[in-house]
This record gives sequence, C-alpha cells and structure tokens, in this order.
Amino acid sequence: MNPSELPGAPFLSQRDGQLWLEGVPLTELAAQCGTPLFVYSKAAMLSALEAYQRAFAGRNARVHYAMKANPSLGVLQVFAQAGCGFDIVSGGELERVLAAGGRADRVIFSGVGKTRAEMRAALQAGIACFNVESEAELEVLSEVAMALGLRAPVSVRVNPNVDPQTHPYISTGLKGNKFGIAHEDTLRCYLHAAQLPGLRVAGIDCHIGSQITSAGPYLDAVDKVLDLVQSIEAAGVAIEHLDFGGGLGINYNGDTPPAADALWAQLWARLDARGFGQRPLMIEPGRSLVGNAGVCLTEVLYLKPGTQKNFCIIDAAMNDLPRPAMYQAFHQIVPLVSRHGPVTPYDVVGPVCESGDWIGRDRPLSAQAGDHLAVLSAGAYCMSMSSNYNTRGRAAEVLVDADQWHVIRERESTQDQMRGERLV
Ligand code: LLP
Repeated sequence: MNPSELPGAPFLSQRDGQLWLEGVPLTELAAQCGTPLFVYSKAAMLSALEAYQRAFAGRNARVHYAMKANPSLGVLQVFAQAGCGFDIVSGGELERVLAAGGRADRVIFSGVGKTRAEMRAALQAGIACFNVESEAELEVLSEVAMALGLRAPVSVRVNPNVDPQTHPYISTGLKGNKFGIAHEDTLRCYLHAAQLPGLRVAGIDCHIGSQITSAGPYLDAVDKVLDLVQSIEAAGVAIEHLDFGGGLGINYNGDTPPAADALWAQLWARLDARGFGQRPLMIEPGRSLVGNAGVCLTEVLYLKPGTQKNFCIIDAAMNDLPRPAMYQAFHQIVPLVSRHGPVTPYDVVGPVCESGDWIGRDRPLSAQAGDHLAVLSAGAYCMSMSSNYNTRGRAAEVLVDADQWHVIRERESTQDQMRGERLV
C-alpha cells in the first residue's frame, strides 16, 4: 500500500518499515502497554475538527462532538479544550462531559428514549437543547421541567425521509426508522410543543445516518428541513437554530467522502441561497472527528492453516472491534513492522467463541506468531461499543501527542469486571 493512502495519514505513517502515529513508533506502545491497545492521535482529531472550523469561520455555528463515537475522558478533554460542544444520548454521557471539563451549556441531548431521571439531570445542569423524537417525549419533558420550575429548550428531530445510501443499520432518516418525527407530522408537533408550558421551542434538528460519502443526501435533507422551518414560522412558531446532525463518512477502504470544509461550502451556499445563512447552526459529527485518528494494536497468537481458509488468530476480538461482526465493516489491517516473506491470505479472527468473531477476511499478510498488527480507522465506534463478552477485559487506550504519549484508560482487570457482583 502506498503510505499516503493509509487511512489516518499523514498522522499515521510508515518509516523505515515501521508504523508510526505522529512521532511515536507503535511497536514501542505495544511493548510497553501490551495488546489489544487503542491508540489515538491528538493532532488527527484536531485536524479533523479544524476542517469543520475552517468551514464555520465567520459564521454563527458550533460543532457538538457526538461522543458516542468515542467517549473516553481523554478524548473528550481534547474536544472540550478546543471549544467544542457535545451531543449526548444518555445521562452517563452528560456525566462524562462534565468530568472531562466540557460545558453543560454546550450540550445537546439526542435519543429516542430519554428517561425522566436523565431529563432532570440535564435540565439541572443547564444543557443547551433537547432534541426530542416523539410527541410523548415532548409531554413528559414539559412535565419534568415544570416540576423543577424550568422550561426545557427543545428542537424536534425531523425524519426527512432521505436515503443516506449507507448500511441499513446506520440509516436513520428513512420512514421505516425509529428515529425522529415524520416530515408530515412535524408542523403539528411544533404547534403542540409551543403550547406546552414546560417547553421553549429553540430549534429544529435532523440526522439522516452515518458513514455518508456524498453531499447529495445532505442537500436533500437541508432543503426539506428549510421547507419545514418556513411553514412552522408561517404558523407563528419561531425557530432559533438549525441542527443538521452528523454522519459524514471517513475513508476505511478507499472511500472518498467529501472533506468537511468542501461539504460545508456546498451546504452554506444552499443555506445562503435560501436566506438561512445567518441562522445559528449546530452539527453533531462523531466518526469524522475521531474515526481515522485511532488504531487498535493487536498481537498474532497463532497461525492456523486450513484446506479452505487460513486463520490468523489475534488477541483482539469482536468484543474489542465489533464493527465487522455487526455491519460487515471493513477495517484495514497492517503489520507494525513490515516483513518480506511470502504473503498468504488469512481470515483475521479473534479468540471469542463465535463464528462471527472476525476482524478481516481474506487479507494478504506475511505474519508470524508474536508479530503485531494494527487495525486501522478504529477511533470511532470500536472502544465505545466494546463489551466484556467471554469475560475479556476491555483494552487500554493511549493518546499520542507529537512524540509524547499518555495512557488515558488502563486495561480492565477481571476484578474490575466482577466489581458489584455477589455470590449468593
Ligand atoms: N447525531 C445523532 C442523533 C446520531 O444518532 C449519531 C450517530 C450522530 C449524530 C453521529 O454520527 P456520525 O457523525 O458519527 O456518523 N455504530 C455505528 C454508527 C452508529 C451511529 C449512531 N448515531 C458504526 O459503527 O458504524
């Protein structure tokens, strides 16, 4: 592979046959911290953020990092220090934002199933907006806010019925999805929200899906949302801000999504043309800020040649990297130190007792037991979706900053896993 094609380049590079993240050779981290190990580049995260910030220069717009992509405190701290807000989907995520030094008044709260306790905690913290996904939720939120003597700022999440042309499990803006309020019901919902005493209508929100690799679906969604804003305002309810969600894709395997600044040049042109260029704007990107900033280091445990398949058994598994098992997702797998021996196609699999526990299929590798590999584009939706299946402790995490590195999460021990359990 041409080194400039590595997802994560230029922060991820090959030098003298070794893989480096920023100024740190990854073999050093595997040796000192063990594997499986997630390693993130601070510069890659900030550079991804800067692409959005360039597009937002001179505009009234803010990035709210969708922290479900990677909620580790050390990652949140990078974005909080860079002035980001956060998009949360649980009370737990709110606690993490506050623990990492994020500002509550820059938090927006998405999700179809907020509990009353989560609503109360977010109201008391003073978050910026609730993105509400059903009429029933509007009523409950109004009640909870009234009981606290507060008014909850709300956006209604519109389901614009736009096909984001991505994997069905990560499409959210189609009619059959559980998310948002149907386009045709939105006006009625705003009229309802406007007369509930515990609510204050703040904005309108839309998120159509994830790993979107072209501008078309966004432009369609923007048009549909702006049509709605016009009809809602014509009916007498003012909309302060627009929130266009997240979803911009990354390069996993030669994917070519638009760069954030290029996409936003197109979107601003559309907003300006329709007279909405001055309206405060929020977005909720997750994957595009962290996905290509991270790699997962793993050790080859065994090679197992077979008549139909050769298996390369590694110490990372579907509990660490669930995306291939869940979405048949492709992540590049490269050696930390290049070998010059013969190349064999392997299915790269973990130790978990499931046939679905594969990380890559038919990958040409020249590997031996004891070698280290890096699974690329592992900064988003890997550690955050990891589990303890098979009583496997979750991996450690390291943040690289130039030639320095910091452990931001210790490896989980079995004792950590058993905390809270009781024998009868
Ligand atoms: N806003 C809302 C309301 C969302 O539901 C999501 C993602 C985002 C923003 C951020 O989307 P992003 O910019 O990261 O695409 N686990 C899946 C992805 C699930 C996305 C869920 N919602 C995966 O590994 O591909």
